[in-house]
Amino acid sequence: MSKFRRIGVLTSGGDAPGMNAAVRAVTRCANANGVEVVGIYEGYKGLIEGNVKVFGPRDVSNIINLGGTSLYSARCDDFKEEWGMQKAKKTCEKYKIDGIVAIGGDGTFRGATDLSLRGIPCIGIPGTIDNDITATEYSIGYDTAMNTVIEMVDRLRDTCESHARCNVVEIMGRNAGYLALNAGIAVGATAICIREIPSSSNEEEIIARIEKARADGKRNFIIMVAEGMGSEFGPALTEKIEKVTEIETRFARLAHVVRGGSPSVRDRLMGTEMGAKAVEMLMSGQSNMVVCYRHGEIRTSEITWALALDKLFKSEYAGYKKADIEKLLAPYSAEDREIMHQFCATKLEKMKALYNIAMEISN
Ligand code: F6P
Repeated sequence: MSKFRRIGVLTSGGDAPGMNAAVRAVTRCANANGVEVVGIYEGYKGLIEGNVKVFGPRDVSNIINLGGTSLYSARCDDFKEEWGMQKAKKTCEKYKIDGIVAIGGDGTFRGATDLSLRGIPCIGIPGTIDNDITATEYSIGYDTAMNTVIEMVDRLRDTCESHARCNVVEIMGRNAGYLALNAGIAVGATAICIREIPSSSNEEEIIARIEKARADGKRNFIIMVAEGMGSEFGPALTEKIEKVTEIETRFARLAHVVRGGSPSVRDRLMGTEMGAKAVEMLMSGQSNMVVCYRHGEIRTSEITWALALDKLFKSEYAGYKKADIEKLLAPYSAEDREIMHQFCATKLEKMKALYNIAMEISN
């Protein structure tokens, strides 16, 4: 029989549509296997403060269709401190929580690994609209966010077409350009600027693309800019385009509007599958692992490996951050390091290939 009598579930970091589907699946799958579930409110903050409630199947009714997270979320610096982690551990002991499913992004996984190392088994589920967790091809919320972006930008395009204007649109994603790139393709953007491809932000080339498209008779010009380019980039590019081309150019920052809304079918299904998998993993004695989606299947990885891979990609390949790669990869064998480098290189290559297609067909 499983040693798990009661597990906790929390959502942490930026909310994402589909998190509720995962919470529901965790609760119902655990209950179906005779395991109680405790909902932990406001992520690690709630775990420190003991803000928890025992859930039955009815406590997660009518949430699969809701955006945001019904468990609420918070960013919690106290959990980075040893005293915070010890307090969280005490809450687990007090409420007899034998393991935790933590839904969120890389910060959430760091918390899950810290708690696992202090004796509370944890399984992570990727949930962020940014889709920027290197070990998984998909994170809950990404599909809904892309659909929201295209709905909004299609509207901007209508008005651009009517007035023969250009619209520079900044899209969330923290440092990562997945949302801007993929949604940019889906709206037929004239140019897409993302950190991972430095040449994508060359102003002269963007203006040349607009001029060429205008000469071909195009009236609307959508320029997608990833949030990671920095808050000044979009407004400055807007001014420059208008000045050089004399095309009236507007700037729009979609910001948090992209994070809300009812989850798409894909996010409801992914949330459900990943939630069920996390419960199965905890009950089979696994800990410090993360549920992933790769090559069309639900798979798993060690959280520490996923976090190291993430740092490697974000520093060496995408250029978002700086990390001491020698130190980072020291625990891994030469063969493992090669696999990790290969993994990151392939990820970047795929992004570049997609970007090249986008630019080839955009005008
Ligand atoms: O990680 C999700 C995300 O929405 C990012 O796209 C964005 O950079 C960040 O969170 C915004 O954070 P906050 O909600 O704290 O403003």
